[in-house]
Amino acid sequence: MSITATGVPADTLDPTVPAPATNVAEYGFEGRFEDWADDARYFEYSKAANPIGSGHTPKVPVVRFAPELYDDGPTRIVPLDLSQELGITSGAATSPGLLASFVRVRAGERISTSPNATSQLYYVLHGGGFSAVNERLVQWEKGDFLTLPAGSRSTFHADSDTALYWVHDEPLLRYLGAKATEPRFRATKFRRADAVAELAAIAARPGANDKSRVSVMLANAEEEQTLTITHVLWAMFGLLPAGQEQRPHRHQSVALDLILDAQPGCYTLLGTRLDERGDIVDPIRVDWQAGGAFVTPPGMWHAHFNESGAPAHLIPVQDAGLQTYLRSLDIRFTNPR
Ligand SMILES: [Fe+2]
Repeated sequence: MSITATGVPADTLDPTVPAPATNVAEYGFEGRFEDWADDARYFEYSKAANPIGSGHTPKVPVVRFAPELYDDGPTRIVPLDLSQELGITSGAATSPGLLASFVRVRAGERISTSPNATSQLYYVLHGGGFSAVNERLVQWEKGDFLTLPAGSRSTFHADSDTALYWVHDEPLLRYLGAKATEPRFRATKFRRADAVAELAAIAARPGANDKSRVSVMLANAEEEQTLTITHVLWAMFGLLPAGQEQRPHRHQSVALDLILDAQPGCYTLLGTRLDERGDIVDPIRVDWQAGGAFVTPPGMWHAHFNESGAPAHLIPVQDAGLQTYLRSLDIRFTNPR
């Protein structure tokens, strides 16, 4: 046996030199060693180093969901399911980690939810009622946000015809093979009146209209490190003033954008590259539809435009709580022109 300068026998660390066989009987065990090598695969580096870039891993698509999906008909949950496009076979998903749905509850009816999720966000598009969540009661009305932690079993009772936008992270839990059991924040209501007042105060500040964003970030007191609405989810209540353009930005979180009100002429441009002026090259245009939603894929540049004569409101929901915690959010902005 040769000895290296550090005193470690040279062939100890050399994987091409096999180790001596072990006799289990010497350790008091009976039986044979199993061969666990069936599922082991080996790729030359360049064949597996960038499965997203090579197209092996499906990209998150830009998809728009219309309000007609839920504005009529029986009480039901309408999942915005892109699992097929994402190559996910274990259940519905709008992005790899999140599932967004519209929930319609007719007046006097109810619907129950209990996803295996660490975080749920409900936004009341219209209607009103109350929820029983693990035997506790909470009221809600149009414009309220409700966040629920792991282990929440809920029934939503509608006093009037109700529509909810619902986002949770069950697809992430399914991918991990994990059960969410430990609540990481308290169930929280963001009252419509408070969110609207905060947005109005921000919009009234001098120079607010010169900023590319007039928005309230919604955060939970528990999330001191990420400043997000839950430890996984991120949500914003935003105003795009008439005649305004938000310069392009990008982030590694996915955005499941909900449009509240928008006249024709409000739209988002999305693309993978910027030109030397900071404009998006060969953009995809997504026209906003009041009560509709669309997906902004991770890493894509996007810019919002309001060429209508009226203000528009939007609520992007993202997995940016998780991305911020992982230090992988990588949010970038272009400079104002
Ligand atoms: Fe964004």
